[in-house]
Amino acid sequence: MSDRTLLLAGNWKMNHDHLEAISAVQKLAWALEDAKLDDSHCEVVVIPPFTDIRSVQTLVQGDKLWLKYGAQDVSQHAPGAHTGEIAASFLSRLGCSFVVIGHSERRADNHETNDVVAAKIRAALSAELTPILCVGESLEQRQDKSHVEFTLGQLDDSLAGFDANDLSGLVIAYEPVWAIGTGETATAADAAEMASAIRARIGEKYGDSLAQTTRILYGGSVKADNVAEIVASADVDGALVGGASLSGPDFAALCKAAV
Ligand code: G3P
Repeated sequence: MSDRTLLLAGNWKMNHDHLEAISAVQKLAWALEDAKLDDSHCEVVVIPPFTDIRSVQTLVQGDKLWLKYGAQDVSQHAPGAHTGEIAASFLSRLGCSFVVIGHSERRADNHETNDVVAAKIRAALSAELTPILCVGESLEQRQDKSHVEFTLGQLDDSLAGFDANDLSGLVIAYEPVWAIGTGETATAADAAEMASAIRARIGEKYGDSLAQTTRILYGGSVKADNVAEIVASADVDGALVGGASLSGPDFAALCKAAV
């Protein structure tokens, strides 16, 4: 068993407006309390749409909830004339701990390259946000068995230009694109294979210390009935959860099953 803290992050994607967010976080907090979970067991993070972060902050900070929260993306630019962008410093000032970077939906919808992802990681680190870097292969790459090579290539290029000191605290989320939103969860062996390959690559490039401290999550149709087997692997330190995080009770049940 590693001494890396189990991390369970709920990526709400484009769901719950700022009023629904208040109700959703309250229900999650109550359900976690009913499950007798607290931050001694795991780290639970809510990642809502940008419009909800202030509402979540008010509830979490006002009621001193142990939940953490973050954002689904961040600009690579400093504040200024960048219409529609959100600066890392703005998220930090809203109390965000984490920021998802390079999610496959953003890579596809917004043509985000590994270079852009690397620049976003740099912006996040400069604002003391913890990046959750998403990597993962397509169905075709899984079928032609180039999934490990492709995913490690994404990792290498997304972390180009950083050294081990820059990346302490980094979180990686392995999210095979074919498992996202499909109900086709990767097997525990698939997740373990890739997490182990990612950890080995981090060790090769940045040294054993960072390899051992970096948390590696699995994401892609994680549910309460499959999370335990997935996180049982020594190299899998938690989950990045989409659909199953939208309901507080469902997400709390998933967290309970994972610890
Ligand atoms: O970022 C997590 C997300 O991509 C996984 O979505 O609905 O398959 O759990 P889902």
